[in-house]
Amino acid sequence: MDTKLSFANAAVFTTPLLAVFAVDLATDKNAPPQPALLNTEGSILSAARAALTSGEFKAGLGEIALLHAPAGLAAERLLLVGLGKAKDLSLDRIRKGAGTAVRAAKPRSIRSVAIAFPDAQALPDGPATELSATLTARAIVEGAVFGQEDYDTYRSDRKDLSVNSFTLVAPEPSPEIKSGFDEGVVVAAAQNFTRALVNEPGNILTPTVLGARAKAMCDEAGLKCEVHSSDKLQELKMGAFWAVAKGSAEPPALIVMTYESPTAPAADAPVFGLVGKGITFDTGGISIKPADGMEKMKYDMAGAAAMIGAMQAIARLKPPFKVIGVVCSAENMPDGRAYKPGDVLTAMSGKTIEVVNTDAEGRLVLADGLHYAKTLGCTHLIDAATLTGACVVALGMINAGIFSNDDAACAKFEGALATSGEKFWRLPCTDDYRDHIKSEIADMMNTGKNRYGGATSAAMFLKEFAGDTPWVHLDIAGCAWNEEKKPWHAYGPSGIAVRSIIEWVRSYSA
Ligand code: BES
Ligand code: ZN
Ligand code: ZN
Repeated sequence: MDTKLSFANAAVFTTPLLAVFAVDLATDKNAPPQPALLNTEGSILSAARAALTSGEFKAGLGEIALLHAPAGLAAERLLLVGLGKAKDLSLDRIRKGAGTAVRAAKPRSIRSVAIAFPDAQALPDGPATELSATLTARAIVEGAVFGQEDYDTYRSDRKDLSVNSFTLVAPEPSPEIKSGFDEGVVVAAAQNFTRALVNEPGNILTPTVLGARAKAMCDEAGLKCEVHSSDKLQELKMGAFWAVAKGSAEPPALIVMTYESPTAPAADAPVFGLVGKGITFDTGGISIKPADGMEKMKYDMAGAAAMIGAMQAIARLKPPFKVIGVVCSAENMPDGRAYKPGDVLTAMSGKTIEVVNTDAEGRLVLADGLHYAKTLGCTHLIDAATLTGACVVALGMINAGIFSNDDAACAKFEGALATSGEKFWRLPCTDDYRDHIKSEIADMMNTGKNRYGGATSAAMFLKEFAGDTPWVHLDIAGCAWNEEKKPWHAYGPSGIAVRSIIEWVRSYSA
């Protein structure tokens, strides 16, 4: 999608569709809705007046009203997009509103969409006046670019309904809006790149293909990229990663993407390690999963895809740090050569692991990925993984899990969420849970001793490999795939964590 920023009066902007945001000013639960535009332009208000007073359009989040040939406007259509109650207005709702506008255009075969920059002056007072212009512009582009995607590329009856042009129309030239817009374009492209990877089926996106896609991205973005396979895993003594990989006919891929800041980082600047779980298909291995729902396990590489997407944005946004992306990609298969329950593995760090369940493979590949990132000089680690069903049980599909051994690094990540708009919830991984993974015959086992607190057991396992290095672990199992369509997004891959990881890294320069 071609994205443009235009400083112009939205009323005279020529476009097939101009979208304006609306909120409900009613504060009392039982009061009738009081829809009002986030716009002060007289001709736009006049064109919308009848719809706003009709009682038909309530400005609920994701609600739309489409008006044809609006009098006094250059646009062919005026789309009113509800953002919900005025008191709940947030960047996230603006992002969703932008997605709603683009997705409303698609089934109507409208190829070009413009959104009027919301005007805070339109509200009596309250949160809208506090929203930064930079972050508002960014949220709008992110929502629009995100909303455009549909994951129907493998359907032969697919109709191309792409919105191929998007314009944000803001009244006056503003460097704040311009910088937010430019950042939004980069971040949204990275998130959609991640989503496209996650959408690919396991037969097409093997570890080797994931490595090739990462390499192509790196070549284009100006990042160094090395893709290693079986030999290198054995040479590095990655006994945990290799154990998972060796049961598949598809060779594994250890993908190492390096970003160097064009300006020399400060002597004490952090070096970030972004480590992703890249299981391109998780059958469970010898501890095989039930058939029901197993097809979903093609998205068991969403953590890896998030890191590859984040690296693309980092290459473009150029924060003043070194950042290394490490992706551990393999297929988890049952086979004559597959690892087995009871096996004892020696990880790259030298720690030994008793395998209790071969379906707990993600923590094994990450164990070596985290340790390897430390050997490359990383001082701050973050990993993302569709790691546990237990995290989905704990948090549902609304919040993803955060675990950390370092309150400062974790606080930085939680701070980044205000900008990214993503929802994460911190869960514990304090040392009193260490008993969960205690083994009689090795340094640890790869599952918890029972099924209670399973997401924390997995985090405790990873913590053994993060050691004293500040580390944040993101369990995205419940949020990596949108089972439900919403007015602002399609069915399929969500691209969760990309925006927050980018912001986490950038927050260290503030
Ligand atoms: N890939 C799964 C976790 C998962 C579950 C991802 C649901 C997405 C949605 C992971 O490898 C796994 O199978 N974990 C096991 C661990 C158990 C054997 C300790 C689980 O959660 O059941
Ligand atoms: Zn598994
Ligand atoms: Zn898995």
